[in-house]
Amino acid sequence: MKISEDILYVGVNDHDIDLFEGHYIVPEGMAYNSYVIKDAKTAVMDSVDGRFADEWIEKVKEAAGSPDYLIIQHMEPDHSGSILGFMEAFPEAVVVSSQKAFTMMANFFEGKDFADRRLVVKEGDTLELGSHALSFITAPMVHWPEVIMTYDAKDKVLFSADAFGRFGALDEIGETNEEDDDWACEARRYYFGIVGKYGPQTQAVLKKAAGLDIQTICALHGPVLVKDLGYHIGLYDTWSKYESESQGVVIAYTSVYGNTKKAVETLAEMLEARGVPEVEVTDLARDDIAEAVEDAFRYDTVVFATTTFNNGIFPFMREFIESLTERNYQNKRLAFIENGSWAPQAAKVMKGMLEGCKNMTFCENDVKIMSALNDESRAKLEALADELASAYK
Ligand code: FEO
Repeated sequence: MKISEDILYVGVNDHDIDLFEGHYIVPEGMAYNSYVIKDAKTAVMDSVDGRFADEWIEKVKEAAGSPDYLIIQHMEPDHSGSILGFMEAFPEAVVVSSQKAFTMMANFFEGKDFADRRLVVKEGDTLELGSHALSFITAPMVHWPEVIMTYDAKDKVLFSADAFGRFGALDEIGETNEEDDDWACEARRYYFGIVGKYGPQTQAVLKKAAGLDIQTICALHGPVLVKDLGYHIGLYDTWSKYESESQGVVIAYTSVYGNTKKAVETLAEMLEARGVPEVEVTDLARDDIAEAVEDAFRYDTVVFATTTFNNGIFPFMREFIESLTERNYQNKRLAFIENGSWAPQAAKVMKGMLEGCKNMTFCENDVKIMSALNDESRAKLEALADELASAYK
């Protein structure tokens, strides 16, 4: 793929990985993106997962012959795993990266930090390749502390490291966002799963990027963004400010024998009957928890429904709530359904886990189920449905 006259794509697709970052299912595979900038001097932007080192080095040779620079924006092994192979294949090449990244290289590669073949760059430094001048932007915690982004003023390209990444291999989802018609869904799951904790740091980088004339975004994962950049940057702005992107209610539940599930399905029907714009129901024991986390950040309201278990809450619900709170969950309306056959505790425990979050509104109508729905708890569900729906009138 050609990104401009001088910039070529040399990344690889991974259809073998079971869990990306040891954590995330990737039904469409994964791409580790890398780019070559050809000029009087040639630079390669980032390496790829070590399992693809040979394939990537062949692509680099074909595109660039013998490159002068390897620019490392991020040291997580999905991008740094082929650095050693590259430095052996191209013994004249120099590594360009942040000081923190070189410290990480020594840790990852048994002391190898390329002291005699390196160029340390910091915020605002420029690397002249010929007609292309690359300037470096520090982007700490988007997604690790050593991260830099790179701007090519000639072709107006931002190399954005993990930011604007998306799950999915490019031979499955498309090489650019002209072919990828569902970028937001997997980009949102990726953002909240991987970068979601670092909203303020993402905001800081967006502010720096706002001063640049950007026509193309080359991320380390997902398609190259060549159109509608305002839409993509706008979503990143919403997500990193922890603003809700969509109106609607997520009902996240666990159910042991089906009685809590029955209550959840009843509430979903009541909400739909009252015209709530979107109702998303997720079974935390069986559905992808990263998808549930994404939805909980996306929509303005979440109902938590679970069973009292070991005098606490069911384990999948505990994991779900912790996945939210550790990512600075905030600015939501919350409601609770608890089930307990003799001593319901779940609502109290869930509220306790969420009460430290900023700017939360707790609904007045909690629902208590003693084993199975009855007239009293059905009436409480009606009251909760009225309360939830009233916000969308
Ligand atoms: Fe794609 Fe944070 O690595």
